[in-house]
Amino acid sequence: MLILTKKELEQALSMQEAIEIDKQALANYSAGKTAVPLRTNLALPETDNTSLCMPAYVGGTEPALGVKIISVYPENIQKGLPSVPATMVVLDPATGIVSAILEGTYLTQLRTGAVQGAATDLLARQDAKIAALIGTGGQAATQLLAMDTVRALDEIRVYDQDLARAAEFVTQQQSKVRAKLVTASTSQVCVEGADIITSVTTAKQATFSAEWVKPGAHINGVGAFTPEMVELPAEIIQRAATIFFDTYEGVWAEAGDFIQPLQKGLIKKSDITGELGELVLGKVAGRKSKDAITIFKTVGSAVLDVAVAQAITKQALTKGLGQNITL
Ligand SMILES: NC(=O)c1ccc[n+]([C@@H]2O[C@H](COP(=O)([O-])OP(=O)(O)OC[C@H]3O[C@@H](n4cnc5c(N)ncnc54)[C@H](O)[C@@H]3O)[C@@H](O)[C@H]2O)c1
Repeated sequence: MLILTKKELEQALSMQEAIEIDKQALANYSAGKTAVPLRTNLALPETDNTSLCMPAYVGGTEPALGVKIISVYPENIQKGLPSVPATMVVLDPATGIVSAILEGTYLTQLRTGAVQGAATDLLARQDAKIAALIGTGGQAATQLLAMDTVRALDEIRVYDQDLARAAEFVTQQQSKVRAKLVTASTSQVCVEGADIITSVTTAKQATFSAEWVKPGAHINGVGAFTPEMVELPAEIIQRAATIFFDTYEGVWAEAGDFIQPLQKGLIKKSDITGELGELVLGKVAGRKSKDAITIFKTVGSAVLDVAVAQAITKQALTKGLGQNITL
């Protein structure tokens, strides 16, 4: 059994490779070749702590099986420990035997950045030159890298409501991307004129205004994952010509961005073009014109975790990474 640290995960799989793995995983999901039971939500009585198990199987040509374990322990921060520790257990789909244990926080960041990269690659204009990133927390670095990977961008503008955090993020990340990073003083400065907009925040209200979005822009909503959370303005959802979800089931159950306007009668379920996997499979069309607005919304899926974890394990074996342990 391989034990893989965050550093080894980074060495094992590139963003470009993770993007292709995510595309195939969602194609398999939309083709009905995956098994993803509801995650087990174990709320521990007499505490504020929760432990979540997210199992999945992905079939197709590169089968993958595993379970991600994420715990939410709010008081860990006071003990100097991570409040949301995550670990991935990879099983060999041929034998059911555990083949690897991976650090799970970076895995989540990588597969989430990569799914945005997959959507941006498939939907953004080929001539996109300016991108906007709203939110510079734990998930932001891989979101930045994904946009930079799929398009030859001149500039990525970065905004966070915590301006100092945004400025520090720009300093830390500049050497990791090709585009010039610029700290934006407001969300408007960040978004106006951008060809690609990615919001990855914990916001409960839209993080930008629909009026600032230029024709032809592609927008990714990555942050909102509960019915109370919102990042995308309802007006831009109404204006969009093409809207894709990672999974219908996940977004309609969890994302306030879409649940709230649906409840207010501002949008209909039929306004959604399809799942990204259907676009990968060629079952539905993507961008309709140069000036059309396209949107991708993701809340995440365990199929992305197991597919990327399986690919990392395979590459780590080839590259001789990790510690091998026999139980
Ligand atoms: N789609 C997925 O698969 C997926 C996967 C992992 C995490 N997430 C979600 O992504 C979100 C971001 O995760 P994170 O780990 O980076 O969170 P984080 O708490 O580390 O950072 C969130 C950042 O958003 C900023 N922010 C909040 N509201 C804002 C606003 N209105 N305008 C600008 N900035 C604002 C905060 O200042 C903070 O810097 C969370 O909601 C998380 O649950 C989604």
